[in-house]
Amino acid sequence: MELGLKGKTALVIASSQGLGKAIAKAFVNEGTNVLLASRNEEQLKEVKKELSLIGNARVDYIVCDITNPKHIKAMVEKLLKEYGALDILVNNSGGPPAGAFEDITDEQWQNAFELNLLSYIRIIRECLPLLKQNGGRIINIASSSIKEPIPGLILSNTFRTGIVGLSKTLSMELAKYNILVNTVGPGRIATDRVKHLDNINAKNKGKSIEEIEEMEKQTIPLGRYGEPEEFANMVVFLASEANSYVTGSSFLVDGGKIKSI
Ligand SMILES: NC(=O)c1ccc[n+]([C@@H]2O[C@H](COP(=O)([O-])OP(=O)(O)OC[C@H]3O[C@@H](n4cnc5c(N)ncnc54)[C@H](OP(=O)(O)O)[C@@H]3O)[C@@H](O)[C@H]2O)c1
Repeated sequence: MELGLKGKTALVIASSQGLGKAIAKAFVNEGTNVLLASRNEEQLKEVKKELSLIGNARVDYIVCDITNPKHIKAMVEKLLKEYGALDILVNNSGGPPAGAFEDITDEQWQNAFELNLLSYIRIIRECLPLLKQNGGRIINIASSSIKEPIPGLILSNTFRTGIVGLSKTLSMELAKYNILVNTVGPGRIATDRVKHLDNINAKNKGKSIEEIEEMEKQTIPLGRYGEPEEFANMVVFLASEANSYVTGSSFLVDGGKIKSI
């Protein structure tokens, strides 16, 4: 299958590690120029170094806290100045704190809204003039909680479903510009975030992290956690020219964990 990604430009948010980094790497493997964006400059430098060794694509980074609208504007200005175009926007973020309804303060609700939903809105708004020029792709990363709430993660459960509503509505509003908008939800992909959540679970249940991982794996039909590269493959397909008719859809990459149809 011809993906048609060579020479295109992708902005990958929250890409200093985990899923964002794997997505950026998958794009570079296809010859797509990538701008990395997140807060930790040391890690961004390392990722830039690693991806620049791959070959023909341009890789750069900008330090950006996506909860800060000024940072978002500066990021898109850099993109325009240095890359001159944008074909693909991948929205991603850090995960919100774990907790049940009665644990979460107003401040935590506000912070999670700004990190996990409002940042996507602001980034799309800033990128839209560039994406409109030649049509493009927006892929919004969410969570398996878009199909089934995860116990003890009320902030994620609430704002990730907001991403789905946003994506679906935008798929209708932006179709006239040939901008395709989709959502992808990860489930148990082996990253620091999942390790962090497994640690919390282990403490709460008085078990070892290995026991928690074993219990989790038993809920996944494929019997293992996914690799970030396996998640990235789905994003790359949706971002590619090979995808010309999928928009407004939500997909899970979760080894079959979520049982709803
Ligand atoms: N892995 C899974 O199976 C899974 C399942 C469900 C949902 N998710 C969600 O998918 C997203 C990515 O997951 P992951 O597993 O890759 O998480 P991760 O390993 O914790 O990586 C999170 C990324 O977000 C960036 N980030 C955090 N806050 C930011 C901010 N304010 N501004 C800019 N960048 C920020 C971090 O970089 P800096 O520290 O450099 O800013 C980092 O690159 C998270 O929201 C996670 O909750 C993941």
